[in-house]
Amino acid sequence: SISKPKAVRGSIFFLTDDPGSKSDPQDCYEYYEDGILVLRDDGHILDVGPSTQTKAKHKLLANEIADYSGRLVIPGFIDTHIHYPQAEIIAAYGEQLVHWLEKYAYPAESRFADRSYAQAVSRFFLHELLRNGTTTALIFGSVHKISIDALFSEAEKLNLRIIGGKVMMDRNAPENLLDTPETTNADNEALIATWHNKGRIQYAITPRFAITSSPAQLSVAARLYHARDDLYLHTHVAENLHEIALTQQLYPSAKSYLHVYDDFGLVGSRSLFAHGIHLTEDEFNLLAEKQAALSFCPTSNLFLGSGLFNFNKAYQKNILLGIGTDIGAGTSFSMFQTMNEAYKVVQLLRSTHQPIQSENEAHLTPFKAFYLTTLGAARALYLDNKLGSFQPGKEGDFIILNLEATPLLQFRMLHTQSLSERLFVLMMLADDRVVEAVYIMGRHCYGHGADASY
Ligand code: GUN
Ligand code: ZN
Repeated sequence: SISKPKAVRGSIFFLTDDPGSKSDPQDCYEYYEDGILVLRDDGHILDVGPSTQTKAKHKLLANEIADYSGRLVIPGFIDTHIHYPQAEIIAAYGEQLVHWLEKYAYPAESRFADRSYAQAVSRFFLHELLRNGTTTALIFGSVHKISIDALFSEAEKLNLRIIGGKVMMDRNAPENLLDTPETTNADNEALIATWHNKGRIQYAITPRFAITSSPAQLSVAARLYHARDDLYLHTHVAENLHEIALTQQLYPSAKSYLHVYDDFGLVGSRSLFAHGIHLTEDEFNLLAEKQAALSFCPTSNLFLGSGLFNFNKAYQKNILLGIGTDIGAGTSFSMFQTMNEAYKVVQLLRSTHQPIQSENEAHLTPFKAFYLTTLGAARALYLDNKLGSFQPGKEGDFIILNLEATPLLQFRMLHTQSLSERLFVLMMLADDRVVEAVYIMGRHCYGHGADASY
């Protein structure tokens, strides 16, 4: 096999725009049943098109083409919300948010004070992302500076485009997990200086949530976020009713939960808020006005019993939106399984809030779901000039899917008639077993015959 081919042949699919609720949005995607994706030497996309013409146009030789005929080639998935120190507590029984944090998340995160432990978990975590076809993620570390330092070091070896940050938390959590406004400022500045825009790594200012940050710490977060125009702000909002009540007590003068952040200047472009289950109309309007993004985390929201994300509202208000696994409250690394649960949440929402079907009703069509996990997520992260589709000039992160990886998939696929149906069956039935190969910047880094240096 070729670890760095000039081109890849297969069935090539990617979104070019938001398909909305259109069931066959032909102007929003490209699909080449027998296509070729051509790469530049530096790993960016050079061209894409039908096999015969593209091969001739670029004078490609057979030994320059990695042949995945019969497989589906799509852009790598983008996970817009995940906690790497929580990989070890996926599937922890019995609690809702606040008690789940105390009983499971905080004890797990306390182990990331140890660099070698953080490094070992980082390695496992990043390979688990790749095994699932996720090539970019927005990632929470723990409060420890070295937690995110270890993660970035490992991501750099794999040349992954990831965004992450050290958690900021200075109250209402175990003593050993607290920083202070002063130490968090120094640690964040050092991490930004070392890592932000180093290779493909980017930094996110990451206050955990309003409950665990004092006003002084949120001021520090805002100063850091505004010190340059290309840093991210990543936190949680309106996930759980008990959490919202506590937040209101701690910030009594704020008009709403999201306004706590907005009062400090934390709502803006490149800010991303996980969950947003219980946002009010006012808060949705604020997100839209500030071009801030939400991450819909269905497996987590169902697992913790947090509630049903109002997909319809986010859709009507045109909010920048991505989909997150939210490991470890989420229950799968697979974006397929996360799209599966997202679809079911939208189904439940339709029967709860909208017994009568309306024109404006949002549907999570397969095209929309694949949009939200690729190009839509790239837009939510302001990375659509680099990721999310196979438009020439973008970075060559893509995955090869075997649509017949299991007996059931193979059997079910026989009974599909359209691309839309096949995408929907994937979204319901697929998981890591369909991910046959992963390419990062044009380099084969996971799957049979992958570059040994990975
Ligand atoms: N809110 C604050 N911290 C967390 C966390 O670690 N997980 C989830 N799901 N919600 C949070
Ligand atoms: Zn989270």
